Amino acid sequence: MISKCTRIERDGEIALVVVHNPPVNTITAEVRAGLSEALETLRSGENLRAVVLLCEGSTFFSGADIGEFAGPPREVEYRILFNGFEALEVPVVAAMHGTVMGGGLEIALACHYRVAAPTTRFALPEVTLGIIPGAGGTQRLPRLIGAERALDFILSAKPVSASQAKDLGFLDDVIEGDLRAGAIAYARALLAAGKGPRRTGAMNVDRATATDEIFQRMTAQARKLYPNRNAGLVAVEAVRKASQSSLADGLEFETALANDCKKSVESRGAIHVFFAERDCRRVPGIGDEVAAMPVKSAGVIGAGTMGGGIAICFANAGIPVTLVDANNAALERGLANVNRVYQSMVDRGRLTADEKSQRMARIRTTLDYDQLRDADVIVEAVFESMDLKREVFAKLDAVARRGAVLATNTSTLDIEAIAVATSRPQDVIGMHFFSPANVMPLLEVVRTERTSPVAIKTVMELAKPLRKTPVLASVCYGFIGNRMMEGYAREAQRMVLEGASPRQVDGALEDWGMAMGILAVFDMAGVDVGVNVHRANASRYPPDPSYYQADVALHEAGRLGQKSGKGYYRYEPGNRARIDDPDAIEILRRRAAELQIPQRVHSTGEIQERCLFPLMNEGFRVLGEGIALRAADIDVVWTSGYGFPRYRGGPMFHAEVLGLETLLNGMHRYRDLFGPMHWEPAPLLVELVERKLSIAEWERDQRAKRAQS
Ligand code: NAI
Repeated sequence: MISKCTRIERDGEIALVVVHNPPVNTITAEVRAGLSEALETLRSGENLRAVVLLCEGSTFFSGADIGEFAGPPREVEYRILFNGFEALEVPVVAAMHGTVMGGGLEIALACHYRVAAPTTRFALPEVTLGIIPGAGGTQRLPRLIGAERALDFILSAKPVSASQAKDLGFLDDVIEGDLRAGAIAYARALLAAGKGPRRTGAMNVDRATATDEIFQRMTAQARKLYPNRNAGLVAVEAVRKASQSSLADGLEFETALANDCKKSVESRGAIHVFFAERDCRRVPGIGDEVAAMPVKSAGVIGAGTMGGGIAICFANAGIPVTLVDANNAALERGLANVNRVYQSMVDRGRLTADEKSQRMARIRTTLDYDQLRDADVIVEAVFESMDLKREVFAKLDAVARRGAVLATNTSTLDIEAIAVATSRPQDVIGMHFFSPANVMPLLEVVRTERTSPVAIKTVMELAKPLRKTPVLASVCYGFIGNRMMEGYAREAQRMVLEGASPRQVDGALEDWGMAMGILAVFDMAGVDVGVNVHRANASRYPPDPSYYQADVALHEAGRLGQKSGKGYYRYEPGNRARIDDPDAIEILRRRAAELQIPQRVHSTGEIQERCLFPLMNEGFRVLGEGIALRAADIDVVWTSGYGFPRYRGGPMFHAEVLGLETLLNGMHRYRDLFGPMHWEPAPLLVELVERKLSIAEWERDQRAKRAQS
């Protein structure tokens, strides 16, 4: 035993360095200390002819400790450690299994030989976090597989299988059966063949793979894959250096680049989101003393678009689910949709036919609410009507077992009002999934004044097997995400009435980094959906005659979006590609004339500001009113549910990058131009600027105040 998580075992002349740092063998400081000590022992090892490095548990090293990213740079420490393994005088074999990412793969690259179990996956995902593989990855990988392939792999950031890794050339052998025994046999075979250390650092990058032309192509690829970002380009520079210098010089260069990357907004933003997604599961005030209820079976009411997707989430999690609808035709349609989703997964090789039938078998359909008697959690996803939902909840109250969580997927209705249709409002909660529910990671969990801590905890924990990122919100119209979308989309719609084209508005938002322009989103979701919501909630909105009138005008012309082949754009049958449509533009012009909206030219900057400023401003209201627990939760909502670029860290993170004062001044500027109706700055934004506080400082203040009271 060397340290708590590292030990050396012997199998004759072979030493096994075995690491055990559950759950995923992250290379923490403790692991590094253990490995350093192991190195010392190996250096003076008697009768030692080879070393095998392996990990116990679910995986080989899964990667570096991202928790350390915010602290001082560790590259030098990693470099000394990995160089130490590379410098050993006997052959060193990395024996891998599980998911080997980032630093986990980099240590293996510093070993002399690499073998892996057939199901092992490998990736260098650093560029998606705004950094580069900074523990030797950019220097050693090109020495093994050439600059071109190395960059392809680094830029794609996607995992490859063991057989692909072998084809690429950084894996020597795939070991069937027992990995440990296989790796020892592999080491013995090396010795028998008289093979010694084979140091990656002593190899040269194959010149033919490192031409100017190739680097130019890779630079173009980095720009295309990662617009607005730098890390991909930096990775190209680091790999270019590998082809031009010794390992030692290359590693120095890589360290300098890696440390620069960590200071960038794209890296700070992406890492902020990474941690925000972890922390959003914690609910202040609901600690370990509250136990989540185990969820062994579930019910879903409504087999439509959302209900079917939600049922799939349960079935995927291994939780049997009863799907209820009002008539057989709806159930059949719902089940056919579920079948289609699974079949497409089978067709794409994501699921075996067996797995598909197992999952389908977990979904039972019925018209009979009594069948929900045993469900631990029931999610309602019927039409968006208060009367109907209250009727459904009254029925659930009559049949559901005591203590079952009764959840609604409503987007716009008051959950408090739904809860009081039951005799147990403490068990009622919002589970707001996003469409398609089986794909989108976000789950807004909406608590009412009366929702019990157990119900909240149960749903927050249920999110894990459902593979959702849960964010807790309080009841308000639109919760966190849709409430913030209101102003963002309002301005997009207003600008197409002012004469900007849909392509111009969506293009400006997409150039900025949004996954999809908001008008294209409306075409996808159905223009009618938005119109119906706005019609049903007309009394909530400010008295602006142009409010969401672009939607209304298109809707009146029968343009419902993709499903009718035309909306803001035109679509060819079976094709989602957006085609500019002069007819749509003419309809918008006519509506603008009726509303006497003057036509003018918009700059890209104006489009971006007019959409994003209200979005961020509303975020400050949501935070100030306590609808969201933390600013970082708001960032999670927008990055995981609304296509906000992770590398910009989410709207609240971005507000600080922009500068709170700049945002406030921007709101004032547009208020002067367009009037106060839509451009009043949020009180919290004003307060933070006046008090010169960052969001984190204000949150700390609030926590201290709560602790005192
Ligand atoms: P949908 O119209 O596709 O499905 C609704 C289903 O409910 C239909 O199959 C209908 O037959 C069934 N139904 C109606 N009355 C029923 C009753 N008494 N008992 C059992 N089933 C009944 O609607 P969709 O889009 O799935 O929306 C459902 C809910 O999810 C709504 O509250 C909506 O606001 C919400 N939502 C929708 C999103 C979307 O993008 N479609 C996103 C997030 C939430």
